[in-house]
Amino acid sequence: MSATAKKRAPMPDDIRAAKGGTPLVSLTAYTTPMAEMMDEHCDFVLVGDSVGMVLHGLPSTLGVTMDMMVMHGKAVARGINSAMMVIDMPFGSYEEGREQGFRNGALLMAETGAGAVKLEGGVEMAETIRFMVARGVPVMAHIGLTPQSINTLGGYKVQGRGDARAALIADAKAVADAGAFAVVLEKVPEGLADEITALIDIPTIGIGASAGCDGQILVVDDMLGLFTAFKAKFVKRYAHLGEEGAAAISAYAKDVRARAFPAAEHVFADEAPK
Ligand code: KIV
Repeated sequence: MSATAKKRAPMPDDIRAAKGGTPLVSLTAYTTPMAEMMDEHCDFVLVGDSVGMVLHGLPSTLGVTMDMMVMHGKAVARGINSAMMVIDMPFGSYEEGREQGFRNGALLMAETGAGAVKLEGGVEMAETIRFMVARGVPVMAHIGLTPQSINTLGGYKVQGRGDARAALIADAKAVADAGAFAVVLEKVPEGLADEITALIDIPTIGIGASAGCDGQILVVDDMLGLFTAFKAKFVKRYAHLGEEGAAAISAYAKDVRARAFPAAEHVFADEAPK
């Protein structure tokens, strides 16, 4: 799918049909200006629950609420026209059962205009995914490192190594069979990500996985160098806006203290001297 040839925002079926073709491009977004910046370049934009860490200073994604997702979803929707918007279901909004998953997925779509939701989990979420998809809520799955389970996974570690390999393959097959239109593979060894990509008939979207995935996603604040609390090995910084912003703020503070701002060109000089 070429970003320049798009006439309308892709739908979940378009994303599914991109399996094995030109890699899908995706980033997270949480605000209107960021969404505007990436709209023409992305096939889909994810309103990720990473918003809790990168914009709200939370220590993990666990404290993100439905209200936060709705607020940021509405902001992102104002900034995109040609990309599809996918929105994360926050921790605690779908794990209880399929009815809860449908209710909150439908609410996120209705309130924000998102074209699909994303939820974390494999085999254990298959029944919920099947129920939601059958009732009109397209689902993107997320397996491998699932940050909402950080306390049971024991840290932000690479997943699917050793004995866990077969379980991750089973997760991928289960979400594909249940009707997910794509699956995010986070922090999965390259060979395993390639194997899963070859095995299932829906696009794999890699984050810390393999260039062989059907698409890639990054947290936008990571790739722009705006989020500097830590940097995962798989993140490539395409800009260093955090450093540049800090230097700009320091320069402004120096100017103000030296009475060098505002200078003549910044002030309204229309008052005639008395
Ligand atoms: O919340 C998020 O940003 C995500 C991506 C890392 C895939 O789920």
